[in-house]
Amino acid sequence: MMNDTTFNWSEIGRIVGPCIRPGGPVLTERALEICSLPAGSLVADIGCGSGGTLQHLERSGLYSLVGLDQSEMLLSEAATRLETARLIQGHAEKTPFRNDTFDALFCECVLSILDDTSAALDEFARVLKDGGYLVLSDVFSKGSQGTDGLLSREELLDSLSGRGFTLLLWEAHDRLLREFAVRMIFAGECLPDSWGCGQGRKGEKTDRSGISYFLLVARKPAATFQ
Ligand SMILES: C[S@@+](CC[C@H](N)C(=O)[O-])C[C@H]1O[C@@H](n2cnc3c(N)ncnc32)[C@H](O)[C@@H]1O
Repeated sequence: MMNDTTFNWSEIGRIVGPCIRPGGPVLTERALEICSLPAGSLVADIGCGSGGTLQHLERSGLYSLVGLDQSEMLLSEAATRLETARLIQGHAEKTPFRNDTFDALFCECVLSILDDTSAALDEFARVLKDGGYLVLSDVFSKGSQGTDGLLSREELLDSLSGRGFTLLLWEAHDRLLREFAVRMIFAGECLPDSWGCGQGRKGEKTDRSGISYFLLVARKPAATFQ
């Protein structure tokens, strides 16, 4: 089995560009429409890869940015394209950030490849400020139960509501996942095992009919004072 420490995201980035995921910055922009963050907001990108989203956000000139990724190689690629964002090597499941730090947290196409999704979601709830926005995009299982390590929509939404988040947006983007998979196949690459690539290597046909791609925006409740 190919886990994420052996998966070559850098190579995928050479095919699809600095945003190493279906949809690219289009979904990041869609999420920003929902968040309506004020200028000066502190935004984290967890699993920032080679910095595609951070670069997109940096160009707006509106936000203070922090990126965290486990891969030294991807962080050094990110450093070449970023000017102001602070980059940190670390793990989504145990971040070095203080409680209530960020106004928004992006985690795009990372949750599905983590060994411990639950620990990462706990971290996101912890480091977001009250009223902060959580933006997730990833593959999910279309069945009511998750399969092969992929969560279903119900399981994911339950995990978020159990941590006090309110859902603001859920969109399925099957077409973007299909287009991404096709680009990989034409380039002779495969996707991670958890994305339905367990049998397929280098262009072999695999069944992804039960898998789709979501964009989600959720909000941590604002503090209530009595
Ligand atoms: C599909 S890429 C997405 C990268 C980036 N979010 C983007 O959309 O371009 C997955 C990223 O997750 C990172 N990653 C995997 N496991 C991680 C973990 N436990 N903690 C932090 N980053 C992790 C990988 O190094 C890789 O950069």
